[in-house]
Amino acid sequence: MKEKTRSRRDFLHLASKMTSVSIAAFSFGCSIKPSIEKNSTKTALLYGTRYGATKDTAQWIAKGAGDNLDILDIETVDLNTIADRYDMFIIGSGVWIDGVHIRMKELLSAKTNQIEPKIIAAFIVCGTTGKDKAGKKRIEGYFDRFFQPLNNRPPRLAYFGGRMNISKLSEKDRKLLENFYRNILKREFKDWDRTDPKAAKSFGAKISQTAIS
Ligand SMILES: Cc1cc2nc3c(=O)[nH]c(=O)nc-3n(C[C@H](O)[C@H](O)[C@H](O)COP(=O)(O)O)c2cc1C
Repeated sequence: MKEKTRSRRDFLHLASKMTSVSIAAFSFGCSIKPSIEKNSTKTALLYGTRYGATKDTAQWIAKGAGDNLDILDIETVDLNTIADRYDMFIIGSGVWIDGVHIRMKELLSAKTNQIEPKIIAAFIVCGTTGKDKAGKKRIEGYFDRFFQPLNNRPPRLAYFGGRMNISKLSEKDRKLLENFYRNILKREFKDWDRTDPKAAKSFGAKISQTAIS
């Protein structure tokens, strides 16, 4: 419990420190783009995707946040060093039956102490809509599993609709989902798209107002 309290305090301290640094950078007419401004806050938006909806959502969030962060694919980063390379993180993943991206889980488990105080927001992209009680409960379950290695949930959370393009699925995923739709959901297995650029941009703007700039 003490550890949890400390993590929260560390985060608030870091966020307020970073906010004032960013405001100072802006007031001098400087960009806070990490590659340009050496001493400015470095924020990464780290996402895990299989079929691209999470990548698109990450890009919309970044746009809403003012494009002053690095957008990184979890499959291309070094899990040993990434936590030390940035001051703040927004993390997001698609959901595929057994949960979020395996490398995201690996990172949160292996580098909990380094990364947890830096996570300012997190999101998932999934097929569950959250319109009814059962959907909300399922989404809570995805969040629980996503953040299982952490002491606390990140301070800002969101879920977004994803998409299903059957012709793009791997053979394994298509067979699995075909079976799931036919035998469990008892629904027609067809393409759908519930991605929501506006909602994602708005989430990015909210994060930015309170933490990045
Ligand atoms: C193999 C597979 C399993 C999925 N399982 C779930 C699930 O358990 N719950 C859910 O809400 N959505 C599920 N979905 C929907 C995905 O979350 C949705 O397609 C999302 O867009 C995936 O992110 P991505 O496009 O970035 O890969 C599944 C999709 C696939 C392809």
